[in-house]
Amino acid sequence: MTGAAEAAAQTDLVFVPKAAEIAREAGARLREYFVQGVETEYKGDVDLVTVADRTVEKLIRGLLGEVFPEHGIYGEEGTRERLDGEYRWYVDPLDGTTNFAHGFPQFCVSMGLEHRPKGIKPDDDGTLVAGVIYDPMRDELFAAERGRGTQLNGKPARVSRIATLSEALLATGFPSLKRHASPNIHFYHEFTLRSHGVRRAGSAALDLAYVACGRLDGFWEFNLNPWDTAAGILLVEEAGGLVTDFARAHYRLASDEILASNGLIHEELIGFFEEMFAGRDLAPIPTPEEFARARKNREQGVANRE
Ligand code: IPD
Ligand code: CA
Ligand code: CA
Repeated sequence: MTGAAEAAAQTDLVFVPKAAEIAREAGARLREYFVQGVETEYKGDVDLVTVADRTVEKLIRGLLGEVFPEHGIYGEEGTRERLDGEYRWYVDPLDGTTNFAHGFPQFCVSMGLEHRPKGIKPDDDGTLVAGVIYDPMRDELFAAERGRGTQLNGKPARVSRIATLSEALLATGFPSLKRHASPNIHFYHEFTLRSHGVRRAGSAALDLAYVACGRLDGFWEFNLNPWDTAAGILLVEEAGGLVTDFARAHYRLASDEILASNGLIHEELIGFFEEMFAGRDLAPIPTPEEFARARKNREQGVANRE
């Protein structure tokens, strides 16, 4: 898009202006809770929830209902409203709850809008048409509408131009449920060795927003939910990036795997996923025991020389 076309596109947004207002209001509430400190409850093993998650989802539900009374809402904290509607918001009122609960300032509000034309089957994906992610600690609003590009605080945002994995900065995340069943530590290790590094910052929605604006070159994770990904997927796509599963299939909201990138390193990333799933080309990691033995041997060698 040219600069003039981008400026025109911004004034032409249908859903983002109102959604952005709601996300900012929700984010302001999160910031208040963050400053005052909240008690943590457990939904599962290490799956945390706080009064902020619940109150802010309720706030968003009310505000969306006023502004878009026909739209459905599907929220992480249990909101299920008008799911037979033509439009549906996927809402994560607080993405990064573990960070939030520990006073680590990396979390956001995420709201993605899906268009579901009449007659669509319940399990089929519609089309993502708008997405808003707000980071209240940095006052950063990432927004996109289909066909109109991605903006960060109103200015056009684009994915990076990094063309090789060896020069890329990546991000991933780990599940808080069924942690023992996740193979992701292997991928974390391999991609750390093959890139400039892998960040695990604790908010999947912000990770996707960062891919969209070029701060990260790629992101992957297992077992996310539509409220984590809906907004971020559109941000990445509208910023010129690509989102698929680990086998290059078009990403579906119910997918168990997400791979987002600037597009340029996508094939390389997929190639490594294929190699790793086939058990090929894996770099061995010393076990703590092997490491301790080697360290002891080194110390012994030094002592013998003295
Ligand atoms: C979590 C965050 C985290 C990701 C987890 C998600 P929550 O969402 O996005 O980065 O690794 O898989 O569940 O629970 O903080 O909304
Ligand atoms: Ca989340
Ligand atoms: Ca959440």
